[in-house]
Amino acid sequence: MNEPRALAPFGRRTPTVAERRELGAYVVLAADDEAGPMPRAGQFNMRAAAELWGGREAAPPFLPRAFSVLRARERGGGAPSEQDGAQPLASRGPRLEFMLEAVGPGTARLAELGPGDGLHVTGPLGIGFPEPHDGRRALLLGGGVGTAPLAIWQDELLARGEPAPALLGFRDAAHAPGAELLQNARIATDDGSHGHHGLVTDLLAAELDEDDHVVVYACGPPPMLEAVRSLCGQRQVPTRLALESGMACGFGACFGCVVPLRAGGYLRLCVDGPVLDGELLAEVPAH
Ligand code: FES
Repeated sequence: MNEPRALAPFGRRTPTVAERRELGAYVVLAADDEAGPMPRAGQFNMRAAAELWGGREAAPPFLPRAFSVLRARERGGGAPSEQDGAQPLASRGPRLEFMLEAVGPGTARLAELGPGDGLHVTGPLGIGFPEPHDGRRALLLGGGVGTAPLAIWQDELLARGEPAPALLGFRDAAHAPGAELLQNARIATDDGSHGHHGLVTDLLAAELDEDDHVVVYACGPPPMLEAVRSLCGQRQVPTRLALESGMACGFGACFGCVVPLRAGGYLRLCVDGPVLDGELLAEVPAH
C-alpha cells in the first residue's frame, strides 16, 4: 500500500506559472515546482500570488489559500534544451496543476496570473486518499472545484489498471466543463442545464443500487459531503471525504481547521486530513 503522504520541503517555493487555461467558469494554472516532491492524490498546497498579495494598502488577500493538487506530472530528465540552459534536468520537480474559481479577492488575484508570473507554494501538505480495500472498487464523487483532487486520484488508479468512474455535480452548464478534467464522468447540474437535473447524490444513490461494493472518494462543498456521508453510512459503504476548510497556516499551528469527531475530540484537517474516513464524523461541519 502506498503511503498517502509526501513530505513537504521546509519553506516556501516560488515557481512561475507555466500555463493558464479556462474551463468554463474555472481557471487551471500549471507551475513547474522545481524543488518540490511529487504530491500524493488528495494532498494540498498553500498558494499565493508572488506579487500584489498582502503588505500593500488596500490589497486585501494576506493569507495564502489552500488548493488541492489537480494533477501532477513528472517532467523527468533528458538533454537540457536551450530554454533550460545548463540546468541538470534530472533534478526537475513535477509540473503541478490546480483549479480555481474566482469567488473572492484571493482567488480573483490568482485567476489573473498568467505564464511567467510568480506563485508562492508551500507543500504538499496533509494526508491524501488511502487505497480501496476489501476488493472494493473506487467510485469518485465531486462537486464544483472539489473535482480537482479526484483527477489526480483517477490518474493514479488508471495508471495501474483500476478504472474509477466519476459522478460530478455543478451549478450549471457554465461550470460543467470542469468535468473534462476526468474520464468516464456522469454530470448533474443544479439547474438541469447539463446532464441530470438535480443533485449528484441522486446519481450516487442510483449507482449504489446497481453495485455498492465500492469505496466512495468525495470532495466538494460541506452539504454535498454530508449527504454522501449520510447516504453511504445508511448503506454501510465506506467513504473517504476530502473536506474543505479555511486554512490560515496549513501545517498544524493555528487550529483554525479543526473538525469535531463522533467519538469526541478534534482533528486538524491540515495535518490529519484533509481526507477523513466518513465514519469518524457525526456530521460534516459546515465551516
Ligand atoms: Fe492552521 Fe490547520 S490550518 S492548524
